[in-house]
Amino acid sequence: MAKKPYYITTPIYYPSGNPHIGHCYTTVACDSIARYRRMQGYDVMFLTGTDEHGLKIEQKAAEKGVTPKQYVDEIVEIFKKLWSYMNVDFDRYIRTTDDYHVETVQKIFKALYDKGYIYKGEYSGKYCTPCESFWTDSQLDENGCCPECHREVVEAKEEAYFLKMSPFADRIEKLLTETDFLQPKTRAVELVNNFIKPGLEDLCVSRTTFKWGVPVTFDDKHVVYVWIDALSNYISALGFWNDAYNDYDKFWPADVHMVAKDIMRFHAIIWPAMLMALDLPLPKHLAVHGWITFNGQKMSKSLGNVVDPFVLGERYGADAIRYHILREMALGADSSFSNEIMINRINSDLANGLGNLVSRTVAMVEKYFGGTLPKEKAEGEFDSELIAEMTALRAKVDEFIDKTQINNALAEIFKVVSRANKYIDETAPWVLAKDEANKPRLAGVLYNLLEAIRVVSSLLCPFMPSTMPKIWEQIGAGEADVTYENAEKYGVLFAEVTVKRGDVLFPRIDVEKEIEELNSIIAKNAPKEEPEIEVEPVAPEIAFDDFMKVDLRVAKVTACEKVKKSKKLLCLQLDDGMGGRQVVSGIAQWYSPEDLIGKKVVIVANLKPVTLCGVESKGMIVAGDTADGDAKVIFPDQSLPCGSKIH
Ligand code: MSP
Repeated sequence: MAKKPYYITTPIYYPSGNPHIGHCYTTVACDSIARYRRMQGYDVMFLTGTDEHGLKIEQKAAEKGVTPKQYVDEIVEIFKKLWSYMNVDFDRYIRTTDDYHVETVQKIFKALYDKGYIYKGEYSGKYCTPCESFWTDSQLDENGCCPECHREVVEAKEEAYFLKMSPFADRIEKLLTETDFLQPKTRAVELVNNFIKPGLEDLCVSRTTFKWGVPVTFDDKHVVYVWIDALSNYISALGFWNDAYNDYDKFWPADVHMVAKDIMRFHAIIWPAMLMALDLPLPKHLAVHGWITFNGQKMSKSLGNVVDPFVLGERYGADAIRYHILREMALGADSSFSNEIMINRINSDLANGLGNLVSRTVAMVEKYFGGTLPKEKAEGEFDSELIAEMTALRAKVDEFIDKTQINNALAEIFKVVSRANKYIDETAPWVLAKDEANKPRLAGVLYNLLEAIRVVSSLLCPFMPSTMPKIWEQIGAGEADVTYENAEKYGVLFAEVTVKRGDVLFPRIDVEKEIEELNSIIAKNAPKEEPEIEVEPVAPEIAFDDFMKVDLRVAKVTACEKVKKSKKLLCLQLDDGMGGRQVVSGIAQWYSPEDLIGKKVVIVANLKPVTLCGVESKGMIVAGDTADGDAKVIFPDQSLPCGSKIH
């Protein structure tokens, strides 16, 4: 029987800097799902790649004095090296600079134009002549100047192509609210309220201010907007409207596009609109995860902790890193990264949990039976419970993988690891070993443990692909024993199985020593100089009592949306521990609602209420200024309860 096709994609990454742990999450998650599906017998297409056009790349290349293509070529190599290092086994890698992709993008643009969905119009906004860039009002700096070079901007108009969005608004709203296209569903409401309900604006889909993009075939002053270019990758990589590949009919529509929340809007609104306009089927699912954060902010290399996946992999092994990021991130929520949490998890789950289970079991088979078990079955107390749990595991993992909830799938697997470790304590093999008459029971107990390890390691293989074969060697399991089919069966290993002790799978890490070493790496890599700012003079001295008049409190953002008539204001609903309140804050240029929802912030709680753009604000969010004049919200320790006073 022909295998069922399964198509999964990551976003294509901007090669504008080296990859970090944040980039690894989606790729490792998709790789794990792809491997799981292959194990289940699907014919899998797992696509990843790089998004190589745009002004930013053009500028970075110019800074380095190389061509944009030379610039991206170098970084793409680092991405590819990282994926191979992290055991990411993709089926296809797309680069948007590949000729076949460019051909597809040009044909898509032309088709949308011919169908009347793309039209020529005028883009008006603020223009910075030295930077040759258009900016919207909300992007300008605090003085109304160019956010890049801080020089004056002028009102300017430019011809541009636009994609009509309104013909698709109703269908997209239904897609988001009435189907399970978007996972988790809660995010759909946010999108509908923020973008569709206020009226979907037509999208500007061409640029004339830079050259590094896909030229519009019928008007070569213009290059195609980078998102139209990038989103098309999901079908160009299958050979849609090009001759490089021939899998479109087989794999489209995609089973899952996995993305992080910051690019959800493009995938949930613009991409469906493009496909609807082209009369093509829509992808089946869009799985949206949060960010790996550090101190409440989206992680990036500059944040000062050790996030270089090569450095971390060198210290703990790629599988341990894979396990940690997959186990920590719940679909839809952010996951905060800390080296200490990672080390503790490696110690508890991998060294003490799985590693210990394998080494204890193998050591006992060697010690009590010289490495080969006699043919015995144990079907007494505790045995049936362990057997029932191991044989029920596959169905539970399947269900979570279907819902792209990898963290829950791993949690289920590790429940069986704990159960098996507990079984060792319950059955006390070292006591059984004291009496020759108990030897048959002892052999049966050890067989059950080997079986539990077989089941667990078979199901873990997609997530930790390089460690599991080492376990199979130790427990004497052959390739045919560790299949998906056998993962729900008991009694698969040969009764007279021979084990073979191997290296420690996950060496225990000395937390204190390790943190000390990591801290010295962080210190070495820290940016040498703080960005210079003009430090404002300290305000006149005040008495302590005066300070106490300002009532600062911790509050959690429960909802947030843009204020309709303003480009600068966000309206936040806060749980302040006192029944809740609404605050309006001028931070819309730097934060979108999804960056803030669920986070705790500091507010001035006793500020006199004001009305901003017709919306009442009771208090103020505390933020600081960066060297570039951006505002950064102060995120307090997230364990502080709502309403707690800051002094
Ligand atoms: N090029 C676009 C995607 C086009 S897809 C048609 C892009 N590239 S990106 O390199 O900036 O980001 C790619 C993905 O990595 C995004 O989903 C982004 O959110 C994700 N991540 C970047 N930093 C991250 C974290 N710290 N945590 C989790 N994901 C992170 O956007």
